Amino acid sequence: MDPLEKKVILVSVGLMVIFAAMVLYAGFSMGIELPTHHQHVAPFTEEKVISAGNNQFEVHYVAKMWAFEPADLVLPENADVNIYVSSVDVNHGFQILGTDVNLMAVPGAVNSARKQFRKQGEYLVVCHEYCGLNHQRMFGKIRIVSPELYAQYLQKVAGRLARGEKLAAQYDCTSCHSIDGTEGIGPTFKGLYGRKSTLADGSQVTVDEPYLIDSIRNPDHQIVKGFDAGSMPQAEITDEELSEIIAYLETVK
Ligand code: CUA
Repeated sequence: MDPLEKKVILVSVGLMVIFAAMVLYAGFSMGIELPTHHQHVAPFTEEKVISAGNNQFEVHYVAKMWAFEPADLVLPENADVNIYVSSVDVNHGFQILGTDVNLMAVPGAVNSARKQFRKQGEYLVVCHEYCGLNHQRMFGKIRIVSPELYAQYLQKVAGRLARGEKLAAQYDCTSCHSIDGTEGIGPTFKGLYGRKSTLADGSQVTVDEPYLIDSIRNPDHQIVKGFDAGSMPQAEITDEELSEIIAYLETVK
C-alpha cells in the first residue's frame, strides 16, 4: 500500500473516532438532545405552563390557525424549559427566533425541545410552515423577566382570577351556571372554555373569548341547544370585569 494512502486512511478513521466521541460526549455528558417526536407525552389540545420549581418549566404549546397558545408566555430569567408542541388542525412550524428551537407542530403528534433562557428579553415565536390565509400573522411572544417581575406577574394573574371568580358570584352568574358540572338554568361552567357547543339553531360554535363576550353582552343571541332564551339578564358590566370573568372561566375545568 502506498504510504500516503495509509496516512489518508489513518487520518479519516481517526476523524471518525473523534466525531463519534464528540457525539457521545454531547449526548451523555452535556445532555444535548436532538428535537424529537415524543411517545410518552400524549397529544394535547390545551396550552399548559407547568412550574416544577427551581426554575424548571414544562410548556405545552398549541398551534392552531393562526395563533400559538400560550400567545404571551412570561418566564423568569434562567428558566429551563421543556417545550412540547402540538397542533389542533394542520401542520405548523414553531421557531423561536434567535435561538436553536425550531420544531414542527403536527396534529396528533408531540415534538419537543429544551431551552434555557439565560437572559432577560423578548423572543418572537413564528410559524414557518405555510398553513393558510393568515400564516404570516401567526406568531407568539415569550418574555423573559427578572425574578422580581415574574413574582409580580404571578400575583397579577392570581389577582385577576380571584377577581373574576368574585365577579362571577357578584353578578350571580354562578346561581344558574354551576362550576361542578351539574346542569342548571344555564350550561355549567365546568370545562366550558374551549368546548364545542351546539346552538338552538343546530349550528356549532367553539366556546372561546369572542363567543363568551357575545353571550354575556347579548344573552339571547347565541342560545345553547336545550336552554331557554330570556333566562339570562343582561348585566351592566365593564370590559375589564368581563375580561376578568372570562380569565376565570378558562380555569374552571
Ligand atoms: Cu401556522 Cu403558518
